[in-house]
Amino acid sequence: MSGSSPPLMPAHAGADNHVQLLYEADSRFLRDQRIEKPLRKAIRRGWERFLSRIAVEHLVKEFGDQAAVNDVSFSVERGALCVLLGPSGCGKSTTLRLVAGLEEPTSGRIEIEGRDVTRLPSKDRRIAMVFQSYALFPHLSVAQNIVFGLEVRRVPRAERETRMRKVATLTGLSPYLSRKPGELSGGQRQRVALARAIISEQPVCLMDEPLSNLDAKLRHEMRVEIRALQQRLGMTMIYVTHDQIEAMTMADRVILMNEGVIEQAGSPAELYECPATMFAARFIGAPPMNLIETGGAGGPDGVVTGVRAEDMRLVPASGNGTDAQVASVEYLGADTIVGLTGQAGEAIAVRVAGRAEARIGERAGFIWDRRREHRFDRASGRRIGAASA
Ligand SMILES: Nc1ncnc2c1ncn2[C@@H]1O[C@H](COP(=O)(O)OP(=O)(O)OP(=O)(O)O)[C@@H](O)[C@H]1O
Ligand SMILES: [Mg+2]
Repeated sequence: MSGSSPPLMPAHAGADNHVQLLYEADSRFLRDQRIEKPLRKAIRRGWERFLSRIAVEHLVKEFGDQAAVNDVSFSVERGALCVLLGPSGCGKSTTLRLVAGLEEPTSGRIEIEGRDVTRLPSKDRRIAMVFQSYALFPHLSVAQNIVFGLEVRRVPRAERETRMRKVATLTGLSPYLSRKPGELSGGQRQRVALARAIISEQPVCLMDEPLSNLDAKLRHEMRVEIRALQQRLGMTMIYVTHDQIEAMTMADRVILMNEGVIEQAGSPAELYECPATMFAARFIGAPPMNLIETGGAGGPDGVVTGVRAEDMRLVPASGNGTDAQVASVEYLGADTIVGLTGQAGEAIAVRVAGRAEARIGERAGFIWDRRREHRFDRASGRRIGAASA
């Protein structure tokens, strides 16, 4: 958000005052109080939705005869944090690189802030990006790497310096500013990449697994920091991760991908409470949702019943539940996950508050709250009944 580059005008915005204001607000709203009032008015009229978004329509990217991204459509509202979630190789990075303009789509369309950017070079898309592979300049110091983009955009030295100190403190890099990337640990390098993106204060920020090399404590801290910063700066962010906890805790909207297609898109709560497919049911939540072949449990054939571990209850064996054997007991402090093996060999996880009495090898029964169960069609893997998100 440097003052040097003039705000871009979306082609179809015409001379509308509010749109122009909003556009300028992107680059100035942190510093200029005068635009606050008209901006509020414009937002009330719903204009920000018009500019906001990143919209991706029927995006396809083929490598040879394999489609890494296969007809993907989604949109991210202005100022929202959208997480692309999914297992390794499902096409998350490729999708992000397409939005960034680092790959050219085989077909489809990408819009950022009301402009069709599908064929626009990356540098003209007004985005900041953190790569999965860091992409740091090895011959530059940490400080130089962080301010690189600001230098290119001719932000004055004093401002560069102030912003750099602030971001370095935020990312815990202050002691390493004069080192070269080669003299840093993986986690420290990752934080340099993060700092470089944060400092640019671009309205759109794309992050590819920015925390994958950090330890648990730092990961948690940075998760909170990134989310706070994104909200404070009103950034529109696409954040790639395979970690469902990151997705659940940070996202306004989660896009769950599998083998190049979108399995489900919705808020974290929608994905957790109303998974559209068995894949989503297993991918979101720890432990994964229990899937029980209903044929054996007295229900109709071809239907799989899903039950979250917290909706399961342990009962004495040979009682009113289904009998099983205790296979594992994982004590987590606030609760315990008891793993059972059912008579057909199925694995069932039960969440018990506090400590559980269960011992490995013992027999135990399980029952669940029928009102909290989910039903899936075994053949298609899709949810049956209540509309999914
Ligand atoms: N340049 C390329 N050439 C050929 N195939 C590629 C290329 N880039 C990615 N792919 C393939 O496309 C698929 C999706 O890759 P992508 O990097 O998008 O996955 P990902 O979801 O980011 O996985 P990860 O979590 O492991 O980073 C993979 O099967 C990958 O092998
Ligand atoms: Mg990736």
